[in-house]
Amino acid sequence: MLLVLKPGKQELGREAARIIANAVRRNPVLRLGLATGSTTLEMYKELVRLHREESLDFSQVVTFNLDEYLGLSPTHSQSFHHFMQQNFFAHVNIPAANIHIPDGSITGDYDRYCCSYEQSIRDAGGIDLQILGIGRNGHIGFNEPTSSLGSRTRLKVLSKETIDDNRKFFEQSEKVPECAITMGIGTILEAKRILLLASGPSKAAAIAQAIEGPVTASVTASALQLHPDVTFIVDEQAGAQLKHHDYYRRVLEMTAILTPDRL
Ligand code: F6R
Repeated sequence: MLLVLKPGKQELGREAARIIANAVRRNPVLRLGLATGSTTLEMYKELVRLHREESLDFSQVVTFNLDEYLGLSPTHSQSFHHFMQQNFFAHVNIPAANIHIPDGSITGDYDRYCCSYEQSIRDAGGIDLQILGIGRNGHIGFNEPTSSLGSRTRLKVLSKETIDDNRKFFEQSEKVPECAITMGIGTILEAKRILLLASGPSKAAAIAQAIEGPVTASVTASALQLHPDVTFIVDEQAGAQLKHHDYYRRVLEMTAILTPDRL
């Protein structure tokens, strides 16, 4: 596990974009797992800049988003389809056929749909690099506390905390989604490399529990302790409750000398 500490959200987003850009340059057919949410905004902004100003080419990249709210059409202003279009896909050259986002407008046989999403990941050859944010309650994707650590893509009931966090984004007259389709923890853990981004004081407890606490379904991000190649990029506020800063700094210094490709 690598922990990269940055002063704030902007630096954190730029660092994530730098790692993604390097991965795309090394492997133009990269299969990239994507997340939405405010923490990822600077990252997408920087990736768009790299595409425009430094010719970063996404033409062969294949993407898989983690999740989508159930009941929202792709054009709804709060859907993750809309978020991705607005902040990333409309500004880079990823062919539409290479973009995969769970469809929140489906009704009926959810299990079948979720199996087909898993199959599309397998058919592409698996995810090379998965980007994650983290919820205040330690969720990754929408794997809320008590989610099975072996879970696959499925329909998930959102926790009250997540629903409350989302309320501000919806009109008062609108119903805030109570369910989502999300990749499972088992799905996420199969990605070859994982990058988790966290910013701000509201994430400090979740980050400390995920990195230094026990592996537990109560904090689903703690399952990342089981993965061989995870990089946490956190700002000072999100990293404030970690105990082993000195060690993480030394690990980074030695990594830069011994295995710089990991950075
Ligand atoms: C979104 C997702 C969620 C968010 C998390 C943090 O695709 O999977 O797990 O990453 O809720 O959201 P923000 O960055 O808005 O705090």
